Amino acid sequence: MRKPPNVGKWSKHQHLVKSEFLRDYLPATRQFTPETLWEYVEDYQKVMLKPSGGGGGAGIIQLTDRGENRYLVHAGSAKRIVEGRTKTVEYVKSLFRPKPYLLQPLIPLGKIDGRPFDVRVMVQRTGKNSPWIVTGWVAKLAGPGFVVTNVARSRGKVLPLKTAIRLSNISASEDLEEEISEVALAAANELGKAYPTLRAIGLDMGIDIEGKPWIIEANFRPSLSLFRQLKDQTFYRKIIAMQKH
Ligand SMILES: Nc1ncnc2c1ncn2[C@@H]1O[C@H](COP(=O)(O)OP(=O)(O)O)[C@@H](O)[C@H]1O
Ligand SMILES: [Mg+2]
Repeated sequence: MRKPPNVGKWSKHQHLVKSEFLRDYLPATRQFTPETLWEYVEDYQKVMLKPSGGGGGAGIIQLTDRGENRYLVHAGSAKRIVEGRTKTVEYVKSLFRPKPYLLQPLIPLGKIDGRPFDVRVMVQRTGKNSPWIVTGWVAKLAGPGFVVTNVARSRGKVLPLKTAIRLSNISASEDLEEEISEVALAAANELGKAYPTLRAIGLDMGIDIEGKPWIIEANFRPSLSLFRQLKDQTFYRKIIAMQKH
């Protein structure tokens, strides 16, 4: 099989943000420096720090302004309150993977029983000039105490998308699913132009509590195991069939 290009989150973001349509669905993303971090904390109060070249939820840190110069740092299932900006930067840097880091505002993801979830949308094409098709989607529910929904890392679980939305605190509109697929296809088109050899993209899309979809990241080597874990194997079979094409 064709080897997917190895590209960091920052480069992918640069391609996606070129599209005016997609800009609305992308969390504001910057490269980490101590200065940009404090700008983000002032603007958003809750900030996600993530390695540009990461995967599987590794090295992802949530930072929350607690007031009075205190900051809550949440990484994995561990939480710590740090006092003062200098110590906070030192502490988050000590948690960093040896990679460039990005900043995003924390998207207030929809939750089920207090646990955030997001959606893995599989988009595929059979050739450079063939249309992109949404071949499956599944909700990933974070394990208890985690801010990342990566199923393996957080000991989370998968759920059919409809079930997740129904069980969640999201006020979903009738056409939410249609909007998700429209955004996923637009993202695939943009990335497909930039990377002609690309055949499959696994988009991580969040849905905030107001029912608005967000593009969290685009995976160029999407794992099939999320779809294999669903009781209904329709998506899994469709994905495999597209791959064989
Ligand atoms: N800006 C954000 N707001 C809320 N949750 C986020 C944000 N960025 C990442 N996450 C959570 O962390 C998980 C992992 O982040 P992601 O960008 O997909 O990196 P990875 O490559 O490690 O999977 C996401 O699936 C989501 O649950
Ligand atoms: Mg991811």
